[in-house]
Amino acid sequence: MSDHTRLDGGLVLRTATPADLEQIVALSLAAHGDDEERGLRMFFADPRVGPSRWTVVVDGERVVSTLGLGSATARVQGLDVPAGWVEYVATDPAYQRRGLVRAQMDRVHTWSAQRGDLLQIIQGIYYFYRRFGYAYALRSAERVQLRRGAKAAVPDGWSVRAADAGDLDAVAALDARASAVADLSLVRSRDEWRAVLDGIHPQERSWVAVHDDRVRGYARTRARDDLRQLYEVAVDGLDAARALAGHAAADGDRAGVALCRRPGTPWDALLDDIAVAFEPSPSTDYARIADPVAFLAHLRPVLSERLAASPWAGDRGSLRVTTYVGGFRIDYAGGAVTAVEPAAPLEEPDDQNVGVPPDVLPQLLLGARYPRELERWHDDVVLGQQAGLVAALFPKLTHDAWFWF
Ligand SMILES: CC(C)(COP(=O)(O)OP(=O)(O)OC[C@H]1O[C@@H](n2cnc3c(N)ncnc32)[C@H](O)[C@@H]1OP(=O)(O)O)[C@@H](O)C(=O)NCCC(=O)NCCS
Repeated sequence: MSDHTRLDGGLVLRTATPADLEQIVALSLAAHGDDEERGLRMFFADPRVGPSRWTVVVDGERVVSTLGLGSATARVQGLDVPAGWVEYVATDPAYQRRGLVRAQMDRVHTWSAQRGDLLQIIQGIYYFYRRFGYAYALRSAERVQLRRGAKAAVPDGWSVRAADAGDLDAVAALDARASAVADLSLVRSRDEWRAVLDGIHPQERSWVAVHDDRVRGYARTRARDDLRQLYEVAVDGLDAARALAGHAAADGDRAGVALCRRPGTPWDALLDDIAVAFEPSPSTDYARIADPVAFLAHLRPVLSERLAASPWAGDRGSLRVTTYVGGFRIDYAGGAVTAVEPAAPLEEPDDQNVGVPPDVLPQLLLGARYPRELERWHDDVVLGQQAGLVAALFPKLTHDAWFWF
């Protein structure tokens, strides 16, 4: 068949078929653990994913490597950005370090670009995905823990119970309100919410805080990798936040529970009072922007808003950015970005131009860090005399990037 690609050693890369499912499950559970079975089958059954968005490498009839491409939507200051999302990456130990994941990544990145994704995202093991153009550009929530002696109890008249499918509307509305506070979030569809409330992973639970028979708060808990955490908390006020914190405190060893912040929400305000930092700090998730010109052209309305609110609102000019392997130019006039065009790479940006290497660029474009921070940490990030304009166009953003899976 046309999508079969021959690899070294007689191996073949191809799109998965429904008949591959049991082998994919066996390979993936051996790599990721038995707890992943429900999620994996769900991902494979998702009409937007498998099997036609799933790849396998086979040795004869045997599946020896696999991964799947899901879809996601990132929302940046109100603008939706279509994204591809790679999951369940695994290679049989006897076939590792032979480029099998690299070959499949190339395949799904092509699929993702063809369907119009401007971004790819992954939650994954350290470093590995940087080999494929990903950068640590999606900041996870900061974790804290209850301060010793802090009072945390479910307020009178409130209760916390396991969430169920009937809570979907209330939970989705609470979450939408919480995530709207952030500059960058991942949008969750109703189907994804349904899956979350049904339960994806045996170690995860969803909870609701109830008052007067109304759902006023939502949280998810997870016990995994020796870490118990309470995350995705969405509440309509401080009492709902107190109810969820009180419930978490009553649930065993309070010092061992990491509470994930959600900046700008009542939950966060409560944590300011009752919590202290939790170690280890959270990992950052990966993002890849293969075509910065297309990404920035899509983001033009947002860039224009930022520009219009900056001291450059009345100026006309062009910001040229070299990534050393490519580059782009952002033209602006009258408080609007008028064009984003490709530009030839420069080896050495001068004062008027900006240099950002490709493996740092997603951090800048997604506002993971202040541009000045990036310049301080990376010798090859050069902002020159354009530092102010870069900061205006690419401010550090608040991130609320919860993967539903
Ligand atoms: C991690 C894993 C998926 C890699 O699969 P693989 O088929 O060996 O990967 P590839 O050979 O395509 O690796 C691509 C490149 O990354 C390198 N690499 C492989 N494993 C790596 C790792 N764990 N960390 C860093 N680099 C790694 C390879 O050497 C190769 O480099 P090259 O392109 O310069 O030659 C595989 O080891 C595995 O299944 N591990 C257990 C499950 C797991 O951790 N999955 C990922 C969950 S997010």
